[in-house]
Order: sequence, then C-alpha cells, then structure tokens
Amino acid sequence: MSIAVKPVSPDRLPELLRRMPKAELHIHIEGSLEPELIFALAQRNGVAIPYASVDELRRAYAFTNLQSFLDIYYAGASVLLHEQDFYDMARAYLARAAMDNVAHAEIFFDPQTHTARGIKMETVINGLHRACVDAQAELNISASLILCFLRHLSEKEAFETLEQALPHRDKFIGVGLDSSELGHPPEKFARVFARCRELGLHLVAHAGEEGPPAYIWTALDVLKVERIDHGVQSARDPALMKRLAQDRIPLTVCPLSNLKLCVFPDLAQHNLRALLDAGVVATVNSDDPAYFGGYMNENFLQTFAATGLTAQHAYRLACNSFEASFIEPGARRRYMDQVAEVFSSFE
Ligand code: ADE
Ligand code: ZN
Repeated sequence: MSIAVKPVSPDRLPELLRRMPKAELHIHIEGSLEPELIFALAQRNGVAIPYASVDELRRAYAFTNLQSFLDIYYAGASVLLHEQDFYDMARAYLARAAMDNVAHAEIFFDPQTHTARGIKMETVINGLHRACVDAQAELNISASLILCFLRHLSEKEAFETLEQALPHRDKFIGVGLDSSELGHPPEKFARVFARCRELGLHLVAHAGEEGPPAYIWTALDVLKVERIDHGVQSARDPALMKRLAQDRIPLTVCPLSNLKLCVFPDLAQHNLRALLDAGVVATVNSDDPAYFGGYMNENFLQTFAATGLTAQHAYRLACNSFEASFIEPGARRRYMDQVAEVFSSFE
C-alpha cells in the first residue's frame, strides 16, 4: 500500500521519525558494545583494557578515518569470551533498537575478530542467535544474523571461516564484507562469495564508504551482492547512480558513522537527500552506534534536522528499509502496512 503523505510541521517531524516502524540493516553487533558493557565484561572475564575508566574510553572515540576507528573497535571486542557475553551484547542492542521502533534488524557479526583470539565459532553464533530468538518473544522485534568476512585478511582465511560457520548454517541468513576498505577491493573475495551464493546465502558488502565507485561496481558485478553497505561514494559516478536506481539495489547508509569517520565534513553536506531524490533505495542505519553517538532514531533526527528532509522522505526511508530487508514477503507486507498506518493517522 502506498499513501499520500500529509505535510508535517518541523516541530512534529521528530515525533513521526521516532514513531515510524523501521528496519535496521547495517549494524555491527560488536559496534553496539557500550563503554559501560566493555568495562563490565572486562571485569567479569578478568580481561585487562588500557583505559582507566568509562569516561577515558569514551574520550578515545575521536576518529579521523575508518582505520582509526577499527583499531579501537577491535580492541573493545577483546572483552567477549563466553556465549553469555555475546548474548548480553546482542540482547542489549535489541532492547535499545526496540525503543526506537525498529521492528526488524539484520545484524552483522565479525567472527574472525573472535576466532583469532581462540573463541570457538559456536560460542559466537549460539550466543548471538539465542539473543535474537529471545528478543522476538520478549520484545516483538525480529532479527537475523549476517556473517561478515574481514577484508584485510586473506581469501584463505575467509574460506576457513565459512567452513567453521557452516555447521550453523540455520542460524545466519547471509554474508557480508567489512573492515579496512582501501586496498582491499571486493574482487579479492570473488571465489568466497561465489561459494556462498551456491549455498543460498544472501550477499551484501561494504563498498564506497571511503573506497571509490569502482569498488561498488565490482561488489555488484563480481560478488553479485544484493545490497551495498554505505555506497555513498556512488554519487561521484552518474552511471552507477543510474544502475542503482534502475535495479533497485539498496544502499544501507549510516549518516552519523559518515560524520564521525570524516566521510562528510558535516551532516548538512551528507548526500542522503541527493541519493533519495535520484531514486536510489537508500536506507538509514546506525553502523556502530556505541562509537558514533547514536542509535537509529538519533541518526534519523540529526540527519533530518541538518538536511531539511521532509515527512515524504521519512515515509520513503521507512518503506525502503523493509523493501531492502531479507524478510519473507508476507512479513514485509505487514510491516509496510504498519508504516502506512502510522503515517496516515499521524496528526
Ligand atoms: N566494521 C565495523 N564498522 C565498520 C565500518 N563502518 N566500515 C567497515 N568495517 C566496519
Ligand atoms: Zn558497517
């Protein structure tokens, strides 16, 4: 169902943004580890961390680019040892997402960050999966998992990771590609993604966050991904913009992440509006909310305030999030109806 969206005054728009049902499609679960939980887990597990306090850790979150963030993000994940730790992290994220009216989440996890420290794959996946199951029952939020390969590591290591994960094939719906983008083009993982495709897994990849439009082209044409994570650099290539719009290939855009990692100098210069106005199926997501200063609603509120997006754009973004998701068609229709209902009845 598509509706005529009524104009909403600027003072009422934040309430509509909070209230509208939405799907989050780009969240690294390790990036939801709040400093308080890092400290609590460090203490519980006897892991030493090189920060004296929560405040000192938070003060270290001043990033200049993607790599400066990743160094701290991987260090933060070192407090995760046991299945219960992975459960607690994911459960905390899902409770927070539900407060923002996230009805559905597709959650990235980075198993190699943990298996490299001697943690078993089953420890990681079972903890995260159990949190997703419990959240459906207790919070009425649906959630599924997407395994990400770290692109700064080798093809061989990605294949080994896939092998370790396959006994748990029923607990994740797809694979992605993340970590340091520059110098690690998607085609490095062509054979891994071809195998994942044969296995019937959904395919996504980070491309065009800091990297060039060429990486988005190869993610599409070589890896054959269904969604591009970030993809904001596509605006530099008119032919690519046309391809994304025509084929309705979604971009999972993360405005506060782009701000904190200096992809754009300020939010007013973010290109989300240009992407939407060009007909690209863009969505709004939080990426690593504990590090970038905001969960879903904060991303919507700050981006709308800075760029002058309207209720029309909000409706489009909510619909895009469910269109771009990997949920089954019946559930997608029900979520779209809920979006239409909120917009129709909003005064
Ligand atoms: N891993 C966690 N966050 C990431 C990002 N924004 N880009 C690439 N890899 C990541
Ligand atoms: Zn990301």
